Amino acid sequence: KKRAPLPDDIRAAKGGAPLVSLTAYTTPMAEMMDEHCDFVLVGDSVGMVLHGLPSTLGVTMEMMIMHGQAVARGLKSAMMVVDMPFGSYEEGPQQAFRNAARLMSETGAGAVKLEGGVVMAETIAFLVSRGIPVMAHIGLTPQSVNTLGGYKVQGRGDDRDALIADARAVTEAGAFAVVLEKVPANLADAITADIAIPTIGIGAGAGCDGQILVVDDMLGLFTAFKAKFVKRYAHLGDDGAAAIANYAEEVRARTFPAQEHIFADEAPKK
Ligand code: KIV
Ligand code: NA
Repeated sequence: KKRAPLPDDIRAAKGGAPLVSLTAYTTPMAEMMDEHCDFVLVGDSVGMVLHGLPSTLGVTMEMMIMHGQAVARGLKSAMMVVDMPFGSYEEGPQQAFRNAARLMSETGAGAVKLEGGVVMAETIAFLVSRGIPVMAHIGLTPQSVNTLGGYKVQGRGDDRDALIADARAVTEAGAFAVVLEKVPANLADAITADIAIPTIGIGAGAGCDGQILVVDDMLGLFTAFKAKFVKRYAHLGDDGAAAIANYAEEVRARTFPAQEHIFADEAPKK
């Protein structure tokens, strides 16, 4: 890849090779995934996976900006998308624009993501018409956990039509892609076939136009709980805990530091 894709490149990937994305919150993680991902999301999941918050509701603009800046330093060939945190856009288009513009200008993000379908369509259109590319996020929208009654599968039964309406509304409003979180795979397939922009699935089956996972989940670094849709490709949390136990044991046994880690009185002769 020569340059980072632009939102229009992501949009144009509809129906082609699946788009690959992960979340990132720090420079080294961003560097690790840069060449493998089409876009990287600085998700508000940062509040739960790095800051120990009980949900994403306590995440602030300042947190998103600081992590966005860190991730930007680690990316060369992937596009960066930054989540708008809870409370930074729901009042209306103007509040959303003010905060989205801040996220873009202070982090260098290529786009923002916000949660909501039909109810956010007017806001999405307002941002897009004023120069801010928007990735939408529908289905399970974690910032609404308190009104959704938990982190449940969305779009089942009677809710199916409402989710299709959400997907159409964000497409119509000008979003360049839409995240579908925790929805039945056959509904995700139907939406993917129905709308003109790429669907990015998380817990939405293999038929979406792309996939995203929280990097700390897929690396096994975040272990407080595991959603069914998470596949752990590594177990870095377990590896880390074992390494720390080993270090503690060696310090107590005075076997660390060893000869190769210490300094003599005089520098060795060249
Ligand atoms: O915050 C996040 O990590 C997200 C992804 C799960 C889509 O919004
Ligand atoms: Na998010």
